[in-house]
Amino acid sequence: MEELQVQHRLTSHLNLIEVPSSHEERAFSHAVADGLSKQQKSLPCRYFYDLAGSKLFEQICGLPEYYLTRTEQKIFVDHSNDIIDAVGHELAIVEFGSGNSVKTRLLINAALNRQEHLHYIPVDISSGFLKSSSHALLGEIDRLSITAIAAEYADAIPIIPAPKEPRLFLFIGSNIGNFNRVEAVTFIAKIREQMHSRDRLLVSFDLVKSVHILEAAYNDSSGVTAAFNKNLLMRINRELGGSFILSEFDHFAPFVKLDSRIEMRLISRCPQHVHINKLQRGFTFQQGEYIHTEDSHKYTLESFTEICSAAGLEIQNRWLDKREWFAVALLRSKKI
Ligand code: TRP
Repeated sequence: MEELQVQHRLTSHLNLIEVPSSHEERAFSHAVADGLSKQQKSLPCRYFYDLAGSKLFEQICGLPEYYLTRTEQKIFVDHSNDIIDAVGHELAIVEFGSGNSVKTRLLINAALNRQEHLHYIPVDISSGFLKSSSHALLGEIDRLSITAIAAEYADAIPIIPAPKEPRLFLFIGSNIGNFNRVEAVTFIAKIREQMHSRDRLLVSFDLVKSVHILEAAYNDSSGVTAAFNKNLLMRINRELGGSFILSEFDHFAPFVKLDSRIEMRLISRCPQHVHINKLQRGFTFQQGEYIHTEDSHKYTLESFTEICSAAGLEIQNRWLDKREWFAVALLRSKKI
């Protein structure tokens, strides 16, 4: 690891830190066996993102119905300078998730308009993805140095470099919405533990709006989100010798008002039995029974404020788009 870091630093101002996962990597097969054995069948969403899944996700972001990416981007186009000014100059940027997006570039450029040099610290579980997106950034942007941390978020948080300058932590893409309440509060609280007084956390989230608009975003007419969801079944077939017939399942993502979330579901069209060779067992589906694959929570400013507060943070500033469909919030530690 030592050698790798030195080599990267010399070639491209890139320092790569790889942390092996601390919690035992549970095999895909175990996760599938557990999930499909439950009363309410479910599959863990972390397995969405193989190569095919990541490509489908990129397509989702460009769908006409999927307003989230465009709306968030517009907020960054309009307010990146305000965001950087609200944190202060000579800052460093830490990002959870890929540093691949247009939004990240907008913030990096806004920072570099105000300071000579920027230290950017992306954290991602995929080291391959981190390397390629870091090299892309370094190729495009001068006066940038990158410390890329390939790790689970929880493992990365305690080892994030803490320079003298304030750090702006980013958790954007409305990814907080894919956590349940406990996970969201736990994650934000873990970051807060590491935050110095001038550090800030920027989180974006999707706002509650008309059910029609919400459901259209996750049930697009060209079937890309359906393909993304069914890619999980395809992976089970390919990697575990499953016998899922994809056309026997329907993608459906309703807005469940009570929990204020979109639920991604795969509904069995008929009574059927699916065998999974590697598990040496099968699973029975009733007609209409579904597998729950992911949630995407929708917040009000109040409900989001409450989650932050439970994690020891308060909203310093927030920016919404004109339609008030999406929000970006700058958080600071609550004074105790
Ligand atoms: N966090 C975004 C959202 O909830 C992106 C996303 C994550 C997503 N998983 C997804 C989008 C599954 C569609 C389907 O919308």
